[in-house]
Amino acid sequence: MASPKRVLIAGAGIAGPSLALLLSHNGHKVTIVERAPDIRTTGQQVDVSGKGVNVTKAMGVWDSLLAHTVGDQGIKFIDENNNTWAAFAADKESGAQSFVKEVEILRGDMAKVLYDATKNETEYIFGNTITAIDEHASHVTVTFSELPQRDFDLVIAADGLFSKTREIAFGKSATEIRSLNQCTALMSIPWKESDGSWSTWCNFPGGRCVSLRPQPNFGRTGAYLAVMTPDSGRMARMNTDEQKAEFTRRFQDAGGEAPRILREMQDNETGTPPMSKTPCMSETSADNCTHHRQVYFQETAQVYTASWHKGRIALLGDAAYCPSPVSGQGTTAAFIGSYILAGCICTHDDVQEALIRYEEQMRPFATQAQKLFPGVPGIANPQTAWGIQLFYTVLWIGNLVMNSGVVGLAGKLFGPLASLWPGSEELKLPLYPAMKTIRGVAP
Ligand SMILES: Cc1cc2nc3c(=O)[nH]c(=O)nc-3n(C[C@H](O)[C@H](O)[C@H](O)COP(=O)(O)OP(=O)(O)OC[C@H]3O[C@@H](n4cnc5c(N)ncnc54)[C@H](O)[C@@H]3O)c2cc1C
Ligand SMILES: *[C@@H]1O[C@H](CO)[C@@H](O)[C@H](O)[C@H]1NC(C)=O
Ligand SMILES: *[C@@H]1O[C@H](CO)[C@@H](O)[C@H](O)[C@H]1NC(C)=O
Ligand SMILES: *[C@@H]1O[C@H](CO)[C@@H](O)[C@H](O)[C@H]1NC(C)=O
Repeated sequence: MASPKRVLIAGAGIAGPSLALLLSHNGHKVTIVERAPDIRTTGQQVDVSGKGVNVTKAMGVWDSLLAHTVGDQGIKFIDENNNTWAAFAADKESGAQSFVKEVEILRGDMAKVLYDATKNETEYIFGNTITAIDEHASHVTVTFSELPQRDFDLVIAADGLFSKTREIAFGKSATEIRSLNQCTALMSIPWKESDGSWSTWCNFPGGRCVSLRPQPNFGRTGAYLAVMTPDSGRMARMNTDEQKAEFTRRFQDAGGEAPRILREMQDNETGTPPMSKTPCMSETSADNCTHHRQVYFQETAQVYTASWHKGRIALLGDAAYCPSPVSGQGTTAAFIGSYILAGCICTHDDVQEALIRYEEQMRPFATQAQKLFPGVPGIANPQTAWGIQLFYTVLWIGNLVMNSGVVGLAGKLFGPLASLWPGSEELKLPLYPAMKTIRGVAP
Protein backbone atom coordinates (compact mmCIF):
# COMPACT_ATOMS: atom_id res chain seq x y z
CA MET A 1 0.00 0.00 0.00
CA ALA A 2 1.19 3.48 -0.85
CA SER A 3 2.05 6.17 1.70
CA PRO A 4 -0.14 9.32 1.72
CA LYS A 5 0.71 11.73 -1.08
CA ARG A 6 0.14 15.45 -1.65
CA VAL A 7 -1.73 15.55 -4.95
CA LEU A 8 -2.45 18.67 -6.99
CA ILE A 9 -5.17 18.37 -9.64
CA ALA A 10 -5.78 21.08 -12.25
CA GLY A 11 -9.45 21.27 -13.28
CA ALA A 12 -12.66 20.90 -11.27
CA GLY A 13 -14.65 19.37 -14.15
CA ILE A 14 -15.70 15.73 -14.06
CA ALA A 15 -12.39 13.86 -13.99
CA GLY A 16 -10.63 16.06 -11.38
CA PRO A 17 -13.20 15.77 -8.57
CA SER A 18 -13.72 12.04 -9.33
CA LEU A 19 -10.04 11.39 -8.77
CA ALA A 20 -10.06 13.58 -5.66
CA LEU A 21 -12.95 11.63 -4.18
CA LEU A 22 -11.20 8.25 -4.33
CA LEU A 23 -7.81 9.62 -3.31
CA SER A 24 -8.95 11.52 -0.22
CA HIS A 25 -11.02 8.53 0.84
CA ASN A 26 -7.72 6.65 0.91
CA GLY A 27 -5.84 9.16 3.01
CA HIS A 28 -4.15 11.23 0.31
CA LYS A 29 -4.14 15.00 0.61
CA VAL A 30 -5.77 16.52 -2.46
CA THR A 31 -5.84 20.10 -3.75
CA ILE A 32 -7.80 21.11 -6.85
CA VAL A 33 -6.98 24.32 -8.70
CA GLU A 34 -9.74 25.56 -11.03
CA ARG A 35 -9.42 28.48 -13.43
CA ALA A 36 -13.09 29.55 -13.15
CA PRO A 37 -14.22 31.45 -10.02
CA ASP A 38 -16.66 28.63 -9.14
CA ILE A 39 -17.77 25.17 -10.27
CA ARG A 40 -18.89 25.51 -13.90
CA THR A 41 -22.45 24.38 -14.37
CA THR A 42 -23.04 25.15 -18.04
CA GLY A 43 -23.30 22.52 -20.77
CA GLN A 44 -26.02 20.12 -21.72
CA GLN A 45 -26.73 16.45 -21.35
CA VAL A 46 -23.92 13.97 -20.80
CA ASP A 47 -24.30 10.29 -20.13
CA VAL A 48 -22.70 7.58 -18.08
CA SER A 49 -22.74 4.08 -19.52
CA GLY A 50 -21.03 0.71 -19.39
CA LYS A 51 -18.15 0.47 -16.92
CA GLY A 52 -18.59 4.13 -16.08
CA VAL A 53 -21.69 3.05 -14.17
CA ASN A 54 -19.66 0.53 -12.15
CA VAL A 55 -17.15 3.25 -11.27
CA THR A 56 -19.74 5.78 -10.10
CA LYS A 57 -21.20 3.06 -7.86
CA ALA A 58 -17.78 2.41 -6.34
CA MET A 59 -17.46 6.21 -5.88
CA GLY A 60 -20.76 6.30 -4.01
CA VAL A 61 -22.31 8.90 -6.34
CA TRP A 62 -24.51 6.69 -8.53
CA ASP A 63 -27.69 7.32 -6.51
CA SER A 64 -27.16 11.08 -6.55
CA LEU A 65 -26.61 10.99 -10.30
CA LEU A 66 -29.76 8.91 -10.79
CA ALA A 67 -31.73 11.48 -8.80
CA HIS A 68 -30.83 14.11 -11.43
CA THR A 69 -31.64 12.00 -14.47
CA VAL A 70 -33.22 13.81 -17.38
CA GLY A 71 -36.24 11.67 -18.28
CA ASP A 72 -35.48 11.15 -21.94
CA GLN A 73 -37.93 8.89 -23.82
CA GLY A 74 -35.73 8.45 -26.86
CA ILE A 75 -34.82 10.23 -30.06
CA LYS A 76 -36.85 10.90 -33.22
CA PHE A 77 -35.34 11.78 -36.56
CA ILE A 78 -37.63 14.38 -38.08
CA ASP A 79 -37.65 16.54 -41.17
CA GLU A 80 -38.27 20.25 -41.38
CA ASN A 81 -42.05 19.62 -41.53
CA ASN A 82 -42.00 17.54 -38.35
CA ASN A 83 -42.53 14.19 -40.09
CA THR A 84 -40.91 11.39 -38.11
CA TRP A 85 -38.59 9.14 -40.14
CA ALA A 86 -37.31 6.98 -37.33
CA ALA A 87 -37.72 6.80 -33.58
CA PHE A 88 -35.42 5.03 -31.17
CA ALA A 89 -36.77 4.55 -27.67
CA ALA A 90 -34.44 4.98 -24.70
CA ASP A 91 -32.95 1.64 -23.82
CA LYS A 92 -32.32 1.48 -20.10
CA GLU A 93 -30.91 -2.05 -20.19
CA SER A 94 -28.17 -1.98 -22.80
CA GLY A 95 -26.75 1.50 -22.93
CA ALA A 96 -24.31 0.71 -25.71
CA GLN A 97 -27.12 -0.35 -28.02
CA SER A 98 -29.00 2.89 -27.89
CA PHE A 99 -28.70 6.60 -28.56
CA VAL A 100 -29.92 7.34 -25.07
CA LYS A 101 -27.51 5.98 -22.50
CA GLU A 102 -28.06 4.52 -19.07
CA VAL A 103 -28.02 7.84 -17.25
CA GLU A 104 -28.64 11.12 -19.00
CA ILE A 105 -27.83 14.02 -16.74
CA LEU A 106 -27.08 17.69 -17.19
CA ARG A 107 -23.35 18.22 -16.99
CA GLY A 108 -23.83 21.00 -14.45
CA ASP A 109 -25.75 18.71 -12.13
CA MET A 110 -23.05 16.09 -12.42
CA ALA A 111 -20.30 18.61 -11.69
CA LYS A 112 -22.21 19.80 -8.60
CA VAL A 113 -22.83 16.25 -7.32
CA LEU A 114 -19.09 15.56 -7.54
CA TYR A 115 -18.21 18.88 -5.94
CA ASP A 116 -20.56 18.24 -3.01
CA ALA A 117 -19.13 14.76 -2.53
CA THR A 118 -15.57 16.10 -2.33
CA LYS A 119 -15.64 19.63 -0.90
CA ASN A 120 -15.32 18.59 2.77
CA GLU A 121 -12.05 16.78 2.25
CA THR A 122 -10.56 18.34 -0.85
CA GLU A 123 -8.96 21.77 -0.82
CA TYR A 124 -10.47 23.78 -3.71
CA ILE A 125 -8.66 26.81 -5.08
CA PHE A 126 -10.83 28.74 -7.53
CA GLY A 127 -9.82 31.49 -9.93
CA ASN A 128 -6.26 30.21 -10.24
CA THR A 129 -4.12 28.32 -12.73
CA ILE A 130 -0.75 26.62 -12.71
CA THR A 131 1.86 28.76 -14.45
CA ALA A 132 5.01 26.68 -13.89
CA ILE A 133 5.97 23.21 -12.67
CA ASP A 134 9.51 22.44 -11.47
CA GLU A 135 10.26 18.80 -10.98
CA HIS A 136 12.73 17.59 -8.36
CA ALA A 137 13.76 14.07 -7.39
CA SER A 138 11.44 13.94 -4.39
CA HIS A 139 8.65 16.42 -5.22
CA VAL A 140 7.38 19.07 -7.63
CA THR A 141 7.26 22.80 -6.98
CA VAL A 142 4.23 24.47 -8.49
CA THR A 143 3.85 28.16 -9.31
CA PHE A 144 0.28 29.56 -9.40
CA SER A 145 -1.10 32.60 -11.16
CA GLU A 146 -2.31 34.26 -7.93
CA LEU A 147 -0.82 32.30 -5.03
CA PRO A 148 2.61 31.58 -3.56
CA GLN A 149 4.56 28.49 -4.74
CA ARG A 150 3.81 25.14 -3.13
CA ASP A 151 5.28 21.62 -3.16
CA PHE A 152 3.40 18.46 -4.09
CA ASP A 153 4.25 14.80 -4.66
CA LEU A 154 2.42 14.67 -7.95
CA VAL A 155 0.45 16.89 -10.32
CA ILE A 156 -2.50 15.75 -12.45
CA ALA A 157 -3.70 17.81 -15.40
CA ALA A 158 -7.48 17.28 -15.68
CA ASP A 159 -8.17 20.68 -17.22
CA GLY A 160 -10.00 19.57 -20.33
CA LEU A 161 -9.59 19.50 -24.10
CA PHE A 162 -7.43 22.64 -24.33
CA SER A 163 -5.44 21.88 -21.14
CA LYS A 164 -2.90 24.63 -20.38
CA THR A 165 -1.31 22.48 -17.70
CA ARG A 166 -0.58 19.84 -20.36
CA GLU A 167 1.11 22.50 -22.46
CA ILE A 168 3.25 23.64 -19.52
CA ALA A 169 4.36 20.12 -18.64
CA PHE A 170 4.63 18.44 -22.05
CA GLY A 171 4.99 21.31 -24.51
CA LYS A 172 2.54 22.19 -27.22
CA SER A 173 3.89 19.80 -29.85
CA ALA A 174 3.35 16.68 -27.71
CA THR A 175 -0.39 16.78 -28.30
CA GLU A 176 -2.49 16.51 -31.41
CA ILE A 177 -5.92 18.10 -31.12
CA ARG A 178 -7.68 16.40 -34.02
CA SER A 179 -10.61 18.44 -35.27
CA LEU A 180 -13.69 16.58 -36.49
CA ASN A 181 -14.73 19.69 -38.45
CA GLN A 182 -17.86 20.36 -36.48
CA CYS A 183 -18.83 23.32 -34.34
CA THR A 184 -21.77 23.21 -31.94
CA ALA A 185 -23.78 25.77 -29.98
CA LEU A 186 -25.52 24.35 -26.90
CA MET A 187 -28.05 26.21 -24.78
CA SER A 188 -31.16 25.82 -22.66
CA ILE A 189 -34.42 27.34 -23.82
CA PRO A 190 -37.82 27.35 -22.06
CA TRP A 191 -39.75 24.10 -22.58
CA LYS A 192 -42.98 24.22 -24.62
CA GLU A 193 -45.86 21.74 -24.65
CA SER A 194 -45.07 20.81 -28.27
CA ASP A 195 -41.52 19.78 -27.26
CA GLY A 196 -42.97 16.75 -25.47
CA SER A 197 -40.38 14.45 -23.94
CA TRP A 198 -38.73 12.95 -27.02
CA SER A 199 -35.46 14.33 -28.31
CA THR A 200 -35.55 15.34 -31.95
CA TRP A 201 -32.87 15.47 -34.58
CA CYS A 202 -33.35 17.35 -37.84
CA ASN A 203 -30.77 17.68 -40.62
CA PHE A 204 -30.42 20.54 -43.07
CA PRO A 205 -28.21 20.74 -46.16
CA GLY A 206 -24.69 22.01 -45.62
CA GLY A 207 -23.97 19.50 -42.84
CA ARG A 208 -26.25 21.29 -40.40
CA CYS A 209 -28.27 19.75 -37.63
CA VAL A 210 -30.86 21.11 -35.18
CA SER A 211 -31.57 19.01 -32.13
CA LEU A 212 -33.88 19.47 -29.16
CA ARG A 213 -33.59 17.53 -25.92
CA PRO A 214 -36.66 18.34 -23.80
CA GLN A 215 -36.40 18.27 -19.99
CA PRO A 216 -40.08 18.72 -19.11
CA ASN A 217 -39.45 18.09 -15.39
CA PHE A 218 -37.14 21.10 -15.30
CA GLY A 219 -39.21 23.32 -17.60
CA ARG A 220 -36.34 23.51 -20.05
CA THR A 221 -35.32 22.13 -23.39
CA GLY A 222 -31.71 21.61 -24.38
CA ALA A 223 -31.15 23.09 -27.83
CA TYR A 224 -28.26 22.25 -30.14
CA LEU A 225 -27.14 23.78 -33.39
CA ALA A 226 -24.32 21.92 -35.09
CA VAL A 227 -22.56 22.54 -38.36
CA MET A 228 -19.95 20.51 -40.20
CA THR A 229 -17.31 22.90 -41.54
CA PRO A 230 -13.56 23.04 -42.04
CA ASP A 231 -13.94 26.43 -40.32
CA SER A 232 -14.86 24.84 -36.96
CA GLY A 233 -11.56 25.72 -35.33
CA ARG A 234 -11.82 29.37 -36.29
CA MET A 235 -15.44 29.51 -35.11
CA ALA A 236 -14.53 27.96 -31.76
CA ARG A 237 -11.93 30.67 -31.15
CA MET A 238 -14.26 33.61 -31.89
CA ASN A 239 -15.75 35.65 -29.09
CA THR A 240 -19.33 34.85 -28.06
CA ASP A 241 -20.95 37.69 -30.01
CA GLU A 242 -19.13 36.66 -33.16
CA GLN A 243 -20.11 33.04 -32.57
CA LYS A 244 -23.77 33.99 -32.22
CA ALA A 245 -23.61 36.03 -35.42
CA GLU A 246 -21.89 33.17 -37.25
CA PHE A 247 -24.50 30.59 -36.17
CA THR A 248 -27.32 33.00 -37.00
CA ARG A 249 -25.93 33.53 -40.49
CA ARG A 250 -25.44 29.80 -41.07
CA PHE A 251 -28.94 28.80 -39.88
CA GLN A 252 -31.04 31.73 -41.10
CA ASP A 253 -32.55 29.76 -44.01
CA ALA A 254 -33.28 26.66 -41.90
CA GLY A 255 -36.86 25.90 -40.88
CA GLY A 256 -38.27 23.66 -38.19
CA GLU A 257 -37.14 24.74 -34.73
CA ALA A 258 -34.15 26.72 -36.01
CA PRO A 259 -35.79 30.19 -35.96
CA ARG A 260 -36.95 29.66 -32.36
CA ILE A 261 -33.49 28.57 -31.23
CA LEU A 262 -31.82 31.52 -32.96
CA ARG A 263 -34.25 33.89 -31.22
CA GLU A 264 -33.53 32.29 -27.85
CA MET A 265 -29.80 32.33 -28.49
CA GLN A 266 -29.90 36.13 -28.76
CA ASP A 267 -31.54 36.27 -25.32
CA ASN A 268 -29.01 33.95 -23.79
CA GLU A 269 -26.21 35.58 -21.90
CA THR A 270 -22.84 36.33 -23.40
CA GLY A 271 -19.41 36.90 -22.05
CA THR A 272 -18.07 35.89 -18.67
CA PRO A 273 -20.53 33.81 -16.68
CA PRO A 274 -21.94 35.63 -13.66
CA MET A 275 -20.95 33.27 -10.88
CA SER A 276 -23.23 32.94 -7.91
CA LYS A 277 -22.30 31.26 -4.63
CA THR A 278 -24.84 28.50 -5.18
CA PRO A 279 -24.63 27.13 -8.68
CA CYS A 280 -27.95 26.67 -10.48
CA MET A 281 -29.20 23.12 -10.37
CA SER A 282 -31.90 21.23 -12.17
CA GLU A 283 -34.37 22.24 -9.44
CA THR A 284 -33.92 25.87 -10.42
CA SER A 285 -36.26 26.99 -13.17
CA ALA A 286 -34.72 28.28 -16.37
CA ASP A 287 -35.85 31.84 -15.74
CA ASN A 288 -34.17 32.13 -12.36
CA CYS A 289 -31.05 30.45 -13.45
CA THR A 290 -28.45 32.49 -15.23
CA HIS A 291 -25.97 29.63 -15.68
CA HIS A 292 -28.40 27.56 -17.68
CA ARG A 293 -29.18 30.57 -19.86
CA GLN A 294 -25.69 30.51 -21.26
CA VAL A 295 -24.69 29.38 -24.70
CA TYR A 296 -21.75 27.02 -24.72
CA PHE A 297 -19.84 26.82 -28.00
CA GLN A 298 -17.51 23.95 -28.68
CA GLU A 299 -15.50 22.46 -31.46
CA THR A 300 -15.85 18.71 -31.86
CA ALA A 301 -12.32 17.42 -31.45
CA GLN A 302 -10.31 14.54 -30.07
CA VAL A 303 -7.05 14.66 -28.13
CA TYR A 304 -4.13 12.35 -28.91
CA THR A 305 -1.04 12.51 -26.69
CA ALA A 306 1.87 10.13 -27.20
CA SER A 307 2.45 9.78 -23.47
CA TRP A 308 0.23 10.74 -20.55
CA HIS A 309 2.92 10.80 -17.90
CA LYS A 310 6.25 12.44 -17.34
CA GLY A 311 7.99 11.99 -14.03
CA ARG A 312 5.53 13.10 -11.36
CA ILE A 313 3.01 14.65 -13.76
CA ALA A 314 0.13 12.90 -15.55
CA LEU A 315 -2.82 13.75 -17.78
CA LEU A 316 -6.38 12.64 -17.08
CA GLY A 317 -9.79 12.89 -18.79
CA ASP A 318 -10.26 15.13 -21.84
CA ALA A 319 -6.77 16.58 -21.30
CA ALA A 320 -5.30 13.15 -22.06
CA TYR A 321 -7.73 11.38 -24.39
CA CYS A 322 -10.78 13.50 -25.19
CA PRO A 323 -13.00 11.23 -27.30
CA SER A 324 -15.27 14.19 -28.25
CA PRO A 325 -18.99 14.64 -27.54
CA VAL A 326 -20.00 12.69 -30.68
CA SER A 327 -18.48 9.57 -29.16
CA GLY A 328 -20.84 9.83 -26.19
CA GLN A 329 -17.93 8.48 -24.12
CA GLY A 330 -16.30 11.61 -22.63
CA THR A 331 -17.78 11.35 -19.17
CA THR A 332 -17.54 7.57 -18.97
CA ALA A 333 -13.87 7.71 -19.98
CA ALA A 334 -13.27 10.44 -17.38
CA PHE A 335 -14.75 8.25 -14.62
CA ILE A 336 -12.84 5.12 -15.67
CA GLY A 337 -9.56 7.05 -15.92
CA SER A 338 -10.05 8.55 -12.46
CA TYR A 339 -10.71 5.13 -10.99
CA ILE A 340 -7.66 3.54 -12.62
CA LEU A 341 -5.36 6.46 -11.74
CA ALA A 342 -6.55 6.45 -8.12
CA GLY A 343 -6.11 2.67 -7.99
CA CYS A 344 -2.53 2.92 -9.25
CA ILE A 345 -1.62 5.77 -6.86
CA CYS A 346 -3.00 3.74 -3.93
CA THR A 347 -1.19 0.58 -5.05
CA HIS A 348 2.30 1.77 -6.03
CA ASP A 349 4.21 3.83 -3.50
CA ASP A 350 6.60 4.99 -6.18
CA VAL A 351 4.84 7.86 -7.97
CA GLN A 352 6.48 7.31 -11.35
CA GLU A 353 5.68 3.61 -11.24
CA ALA A 354 2.05 4.44 -10.41
CA LEU A 355 1.74 6.77 -13.39
CA ILE A 356 3.31 4.24 -15.78
CA ARG A 357 0.86 1.55 -14.63
CA TYR A 358 -2.04 3.99 -14.96
CA GLU A 359 -1.24 4.69 -18.58
CA GLU A 360 -0.78 0.97 -19.33
CA GLN A 361 -4.14 0.04 -17.82
CA MET A 362 -6.13 3.00 -19.12
CA ARG A 363 -4.91 3.09 -22.75
CA PRO A 364 -7.21 0.27 -23.98
CA PHE A 365 -10.29 2.03 -22.52
CA ALA A 366 -9.30 5.36 -24.06
CA THR A 367 -8.58 3.81 -27.45
CA GLN A 368 -11.97 2.15 -27.40
CA ALA A 369 -13.73 5.37 -26.40
CA GLN A 370 -12.02 7.29 -29.21
CA LYS A 371 -12.99 4.87 -31.97
CA LEU A 372 -15.82 6.46 -33.86
CA PHE A 373 -18.15 4.77 -36.28
CA PRO A 374 -16.45 5.42 -39.63
CA GLY A 375 -17.52 8.83 -40.93
CA VAL A 376 -18.97 10.18 -37.67
CA PRO A 377 -19.96 12.96 -37.27
CA GLY A 378 -20.16 13.63 -41.04
CA ILE A 379 -22.29 10.57 -41.71
CA ALA A 380 -25.05 11.85 -39.45
CA ASN A 381 -24.76 15.36 -40.91
CA PRO A 382 -24.99 14.97 -44.68
CA GLN A 383 -24.02 17.95 -46.82
CA THR A 384 -26.71 17.68 -49.49
CA ALA A 385 -30.49 17.32 -49.53
CA TRP A 386 -30.00 14.00 -51.31
CA GLY A 387 -27.63 12.81 -48.58
CA ILE A 388 -30.15 13.74 -45.91
CA GLN A 389 -32.86 11.82 -47.74
CA LEU A 390 -30.59 8.79 -47.96
CA PHE A 391 -29.59 9.02 -44.29
CA TYR A 392 -33.20 9.25 -43.17
CA THR A 393 -34.23 6.38 -45.44
CA VAL A 394 -31.53 4.20 -43.95
CA LEU A 395 -32.68 5.15 -40.47
CA TRP A 396 -36.28 4.53 -41.47
CA ILE A 397 -35.49 1.01 -42.73
CA GLY A 398 -33.37 0.35 -39.64
CA ASN A 399 -36.22 1.47 -37.46
CA LEU A 400 -38.70 -0.86 -39.23
CA VAL A 401 -36.32 -3.78 -38.82
CA MET A 402 -35.73 -3.03 -35.15
CA ASN A 403 -39.41 -2.68 -34.40
CA SER A 404 -40.14 -5.97 -36.10
CA GLY A 405 -38.08 -7.67 -33.44
CA VAL A 406 -35.22 -8.70 -35.71
CA VAL A 407 -32.49 -7.08 -33.70
CA GLY A 408 -29.06 -8.69 -33.70
CA LEU A 409 -27.06 -7.43 -36.61
CA ALA A 410 -29.65 -4.91 -37.75
CA GLY A 411 -29.83 -3.45 -34.25
CA LYS A 412 -26.07 -3.23 -34.19
CA LEU A 413 -26.00 -1.55 -37.58
CA PHE A 414 -28.65 1.07 -37.12
CA GLY A 415 -29.10 1.62 -33.40
CA PRO A 416 -26.09 3.43 -32.13
CA LEU A 417 -24.60 5.19 -35.13
CA ALA A 418 -22.02 6.89 -33.03
CA SER A 419 -21.45 4.38 -30.28
CA LEU A 420 -21.77 0.94 -31.83
CA TRP A 421 -18.17 0.87 -32.91
CA PRO A 422 -16.37 1.08 -29.57
CA GLY A 423 -18.50 -1.40 -27.66
CA SER A 424 -17.49 -4.47 -29.62
CA GLU A 425 -15.14 -6.08 -27.14
CA GLU A 426 -15.72 -6.03 -23.41
CA LEU A 427 -12.81 -4.60 -21.38
CA LYS A 428 -12.51 -5.57 -17.74
CA LEU A 429 -11.93 -2.96 -15.04
CA PRO A 430 -8.80 -3.71 -13.00
CA LEU A 431 -9.36 -4.28 -9.28
CA TYR A 432 -7.21 -2.62 -6.62
CA PRO A 433 -7.20 -4.39 -3.24
CA ALA A 434 -5.04 -1.55 -1.87
CA MET A 435 -7.76 1.04 -2.62
CA LYS A 436 -10.85 1.41 -0.44
CA THR A 437 -13.95 2.23 -2.46
CA ILE A 438 -16.80 4.19 -0.87
CA ARG A 439 -18.63 1.93 1.61
CA GLY A 440 -16.59 -0.96 0.14
CA VAL A 441 -18.76 -1.19 -3.00
CA ALA A 442 -16.94 -3.13 -5.73
CA PRO A 443 -16.89 -1.58 -9.19
C1 LIG B 1 -18.50 24.16 -19.14
C2 LIG B 1 -18.45 22.83 -19.84
C3 LIG B 1 -19.58 22.35 -20.51
C4 LIG B 1 -19.56 21.12 -21.16
N1 LIG B 1 -20.69 20.68 -21.79
C5 LIG B 1 -20.70 19.48 -22.42
C6 LIG B 1 -21.88 18.99 -23.06
O1 LIG B 1 -22.92 19.64 -23.07
N2 LIG B 1 -21.83 17.77 -23.67
C7 LIG B 1 -20.69 17.00 -23.67
O2 LIG B 1 -20.69 15.90 -24.21
N3 LIG B 1 -19.55 17.44 -23.05
C8 LIG B 1 -19.54 18.66 -22.43
N4 LIG B 1 -18.37 19.10 -21.82
C9 LIG B 1 -17.19 18.21 -21.83
C10 LIG B 1 -17.30 17.09 -20.79
O3 LIG B 1 -17.50 17.63 -19.51
C11 LIG B 1 -16.04 16.27 -20.83
O4 LIG B 1 -15.91 15.71 -22.12
C12 LIG B 1 -15.95 15.06 -19.91
O5 LIG B 1 -16.88 15.08 -18.88
C13 LIG B 1 -14.54 14.89 -19.34
O6 LIG B 1 -14.36 15.82 -18.30
P1 LIG B 1 -12.99 16.48 -17.85
O7 LIG B 1 -13.11 16.65 -16.39
O8 LIG B 1 -11.83 15.74 -18.40
O9 LIG B 1 -13.00 17.89 -18.60
P2 LIG B 1 -13.97 19.14 -18.40
O10 LIG B 1 -15.32 18.71 -17.98
O11 LIG B 1 -13.84 19.94 -19.64
O12 LIG B 1 -13.35 19.95 -17.16
C14 LIG B 1 -12.14 20.68 -17.23
C15 LIG B 1 -12.13 21.72 -16.12
O13 LIG B 1 -10.84 22.35 -16.09
C16 LIG B 1 -11.02 23.76 -15.97
N5 LIG B 1 -9.83 24.41 -16.53
C17 LIG B 1 -9.57 24.73 -17.82
N6 LIG B 1 -8.35 25.24 -17.94
C18 LIG B 1 -7.81 25.28 -16.70
C19 LIG B 1 -6.55 25.68 -16.18
N7 LIG B 1 -5.59 26.18 -16.97
N8 LIG B 1 -6.34 25.55 -14.86
C20 LIG B 1 -7.29 25.04 -14.03
N9 LIG B 1 -8.49 24.64 -14.48
C21 LIG B 1 -8.74 24.75 -15.79
C22 LIG B 1 -12.30 24.04 -16.69
O14 LIG B 1 -12.88 25.26 -16.27
C23 LIG B 1 -13.15 22.84 -16.28
O15 LIG B 1 -13.82 23.07 -15.07
C24 LIG B 1 -18.36 20.34 -21.17
C25 LIG B 1 -17.22 20.82 -20.51
C26 LIG B 1 -17.25 22.05 -19.85
C27 LIG B 1 -16.01 22.56 -19.14
C1 LIG C 1 -20.38 -3.88 -13.49
O1 LIG C 1 -21.77 -3.78 -13.32
C2 LIG C 1 -22.50 -4.80 -13.99
C3 LIG C 1 -23.98 -4.48 -13.82
O2 LIG C 1 -24.28 -4.12 -12.52
C4 LIG C 1 -22.11 -6.15 -13.41
O3 LIG C 1 -22.77 -7.18 -14.12
C5 LIG C 1 -20.59 -6.35 -13.53
O4 LIG C 1 -20.21 -7.55 -12.92
C6 LIG C 1 -19.91 -5.17 -12.85
N1 LIG C 1 -18.46 -5.31 -12.76
C7 LIG C 1 -17.59 -5.31 -13.75
C8 LIG C 1 -16.14 -5.34 -13.39
O5 LIG C 1 -17.92 -5.27 -14.91
C1 LIG D 1 -19.81 17.58 4.58
O1 LIG D 1 -19.99 18.22 5.83
C2 LIG D 1 -21.34 18.61 6.09
C3 LIG D 1 -21.35 19.42 7.38
O2 LIG D 1 -20.62 18.79 8.38
C4 LIG D 1 -22.23 17.35 6.17
O3 LIG D 1 -23.56 17.71 6.39
C5 LIG D 1 -22.12 16.59 4.83
O4 LIG D 1 -22.84 15.38 4.89
C6 LIG D 1 -20.66 16.29 4.50
N1 LIG D 1 -20.60 15.73 3.17
C7 LIG D 1 -19.97 14.59 2.89
C8 LIG D 1 -20.03 14.11 1.48
O5 LIG D 1 -19.36 13.95 3.71
C1 LIG E 1 -44.30 17.39 -34.05
O1 LIG E 1 -45.05 16.20 -34.11
C2 LIG E 1 -45.25 15.55 -32.86
C3 LIG E 1 -46.00 14.28 -33.11
O2 LIG E 1 -45.20 13.39 -33.84
C4 LIG E 1 -46.00 16.47 -31.90
O3 LIG E 1 -46.13 15.85 -30.63
C5 LIG E 1 -45.24 17.77 -31.74
O4 LIG E 1 -45.93 18.65 -30.92
C6 LIG E 1 -44.98 18.39 -33.11
N1 LIG E 1 -44.13 19.56 -32.94
C7 LIG E 1 -44.46 20.77 -33.37
C8 LIG E 1 -43.46 21.87 -33.15
O5 LIG E 1 -45.52 20.99 -33.91
